[in-house]
Amino acid sequence: MDSKNFSLNNGIEIPSVATGTWKLEENQLEDIFEIAYDAGYRHIDAATIYKNEDAVGQALKALQLPRKEMFLTTKLWNTNQTFEDTLKAFEQSLQNLQTDYIDLYLIHWPGSYERILEVWRAMEYLYHEGRIRAIGVSNFNVHHIDLLLKHTSIKPTVNQVECHPYYQNAFLNEYCQKHEILLSAYAPLMSWNVKELIQNETLIDLGKKYQKTPAQIALRWMIQREIIVIPRSKNPKRIVENIRIFDFELSEEDMYRIRCENRGLRYFTEPDNMDFGFLEDTNGGSNGPKN
Ligand SMILES: NC(=O)c1ccc[n+]([C@@H]2O[C@H](COP(=O)([O-])OP(=O)(O)OC[C@H]3O[C@@H](n4cnc5c(N)ncnc54)[C@H](OP(=O)(O)O)[C@@H]3O)[C@@H](O)[C@H]2O)c1
Repeated sequence: MDSKNFSLNNGIEIPSVATGTWKLEENQLEDIFEIAYDAGYRHIDAATIYKNEDAVGQALKALQLPRKEMFLTTKLWNTNQTFEDTLKAFEQSLQNLQTDYIDLYLIHWPGSYERILEVWRAMEYLYHEGRIRAIGVSNFNVHHIDLLLKHTSIKPTVNQVECHPYYQNAFLNEYCQKHEILLSAYAPLMSWNVKELIQNETLIDLGKKYQKTPAQIALRWMIQREIIVIPRSKNPKRIVENIRIFDFELSEEDMYRIRCENRGLRYFTEPDNMDFGFLEDTNGGSNGPKN
């Protein structure tokens, strides 16, 4: 469990900790990426809807890395859920990110069954063309994944969903693991509710035991469940802190203590209730503050 990489079901290696980019300001990205790279991050999580995909590309370019040194995930937004629009949106993402391939391309939210299948056909096409190294989904419930497993030839490699100590997604994780699909935890620190996470008594107590912060305990707990984590921070100290989670291991008993903290409390929209009225400003599917 010391490895910082997980393996996807198509054999590709994926760094298990990614830098989140939602709500990061354009002028912050260069500094954040530089600190993140020095701290050991090799995975960036972007999305077209975050409206900073081009700034992510610019900041990445400023790092002057060989392209294959950074694993890039980005996501297809809901207004592009046709075959043709997927291809166009993909080209736009490449342009924004100043690259000629994406490591992991995700459907950001599921639409109707018809739309999911049509978009997946486009994703498979891009995958076969060698433009994407792995394809996956985000905010998919079991029934959405089932649809892909029954009707398509390539299964998703990743399902990126809300996951943290108060919303543990144990059943979905078990189901995905059974089908060799990795869960990726967004809002792993409970997003705008991070204060509640760092004030949780169990996480504080375990932090004292392992000489780690509550945030590190929460992230490590997900890594040990074989879940990718995507913490977002603009603070240099916390960026570093969030990846210093590979030098300790939570005992089974302590994993269980965190499991007992589950409250089934989600902060983002339940995917079956996502507003597909295609409003311009959907706040990325979050019910939280706009800024
Ligand atoms: N697929 C989807 O639909 C979806 C939805 C939401 C998010 N995402 C992805 O997942 C990423 C992470 O989720 P998120 O951005 O909502 O929230 P998050 O990473 O759970 O939490 C971010 C908040 O935690 C604070 N923080 C970070 N590290 C900390 C630490 N060690 N101690 C205390 N506070 C800390 C940050 O403040 P500071 O900046 O001040 O440190 C920020 O306020 C996003 O950026 C995005 O890439 C995907």
